[in-house]
Amino acid sequence: MHTGTNLIQFLADEHRRTASVCPDVQALLGQIAVSCKEISNAVNQGALSGVMGSLESENIQGETQKKLDVITNEIFLRINERSGQLAGMASEEMDDAYTIPDGYVRGKYLLVFDPLDGSSNVDVNISVGTIFSVLRYEGKASNPVAADFLQPGTRQVAAGYALYGSSTMLVLTTGHGVNGFSLDRNVGEFVLTHAGMTIPAETKEFAINASNQRFWEAPVQRYVSECVAGKTGPRGRDFNMRWVASMVAEVHRILIRGGIFMYPKDTKDPAKAGKLRLMYEANPMSLIVEQAGGLSSTGRQRILDIQPEGLHQRVPVILGSRQEVERVIGYHAEA
Ligand code: AHG
Ligand code: MN
Ligand code: MN
Repeated sequence: MHTGTNLIQFLADEHRRTASVCPDVQALLGQIAVSCKEISNAVNQGALSGVMGSLESENIQGETQKKLDVITNEIFLRINERSGQLAGMASEEMDDAYTIPDGYVRGKYLLVFDPLDGSSNVDVNISVGTIFSVLRYEGKASNPVAADFLQPGTRQVAAGYALYGSSTMLVLTTGHGVNGFSLDRNVGEFVLTHAGMTIPAETKEFAINASNQRFWEAPVQRYVSECVAGKTGPRGRDFNMRWVASMVAEVHRILIRGGIFMYPKDTKDPAKAGKLRLMYEANPMSLIVEQAGGLSSTGRQRILDIQPEGLHQRVPVILGSRQEVERVIGYHAEA
C-alpha cells in the first residue's frame, strides 16, 4: 500500500522517533538509495545497452565477473565516494578496501556491499539485487584498511537490500524493525509500501540448492528429508520448495510469506566454510531477518556474533522463520 511517505521523510521520522539514524546516516542512506535507483535502471535496460554477458576477468573469489557485476560496482563507488559520509568501502568485486579519492570529504562510516547479487541470473532476466551494510569507522588513519571493516554483524549501523524484480524495492533496517520501499518510477522516489515487515513464524516452504545434497552434513540432510517426506513424514504436513539462486529474492520471499533459506556448510570444497560471504551477504541479511523476528545461524552459531577474519570470508547460512531455524540448530546440536 502506498503510504505517501518517501524514504527521505521516513528516515527523518525514524530519527525523531528512535533517536537513531542521525543526519549523517540519513544522508548516506539517501545516496545508497540513489545508487540502487541507478542500478535498477542499468539492470532494466538489459540487452538494450549491451551489458549482458561475462567479462574475461575473475573476482578475488575466482568467479567470472559479469559485465554488470563491474558496472554496478562502479555505480556504487562513484555515487557513494562523494557522499561525504564514508571513510572507505569494500565490495565483493574488489580484492581490498577501497580508498576514498583525494579531494572528497571523508566521513565516519564504512560501506560494504554486494553490488549485484544473483548475477548468474542476469542474462536470463530473473530477479537480482544489491546488498549493503553500514559500519562505523573507529580508526584514526585517513584511509581505513581491511582490518577496520572486520566488525561483527551486531555492530552494523544499518543494512539493506534492493531487489530488482517485477518491481524495484529497497528493504532497510537501522536496528528498529524492517521497512520496505517501492520505487515509483514516475517520480523517481522510493515510497514506503511495506511498513514494519515481520517474518511469519509458521512456514511450509524451504529453499536450498538440492544439487548439493550429496555434500550436506547430517543435520541438513535430516531437516530436508523430513520436509520432503511431507504429510506422511515426521513433520505431518507437506512442504514446498523454491530456489531462485538470488539470495535477495530468497530473503524477500521469506520476509513476505515466511520460509527457511539454507546455504549450509558442505563437503564440496573443504577449503570453504560455505558459499555466501559474511561481510556483504550474510551479515546484512541476518540483521534484516532478526529485525523482522526471524533467526539467522550457521547451524552452530548466531551469524551476527561471528568475529570476521577476512573481507571475503565465507560462512554457512541458515535463516528465516524462527521455528524452522531453531529446529535446524537443534539438529546440529543433537549431531
Ligand atoms: P553473487 O551473484 O553475488 O555471487 O551471489 C550468488 C549467491 C546467492 O545470491 C545465491 O543464493 C547463491 O549464490 C546461489 O548459488 P548456487 O548457484 O550455488 O545455487
Ligand atoms: Mn551475492
Ligand atoms: Mn554479487
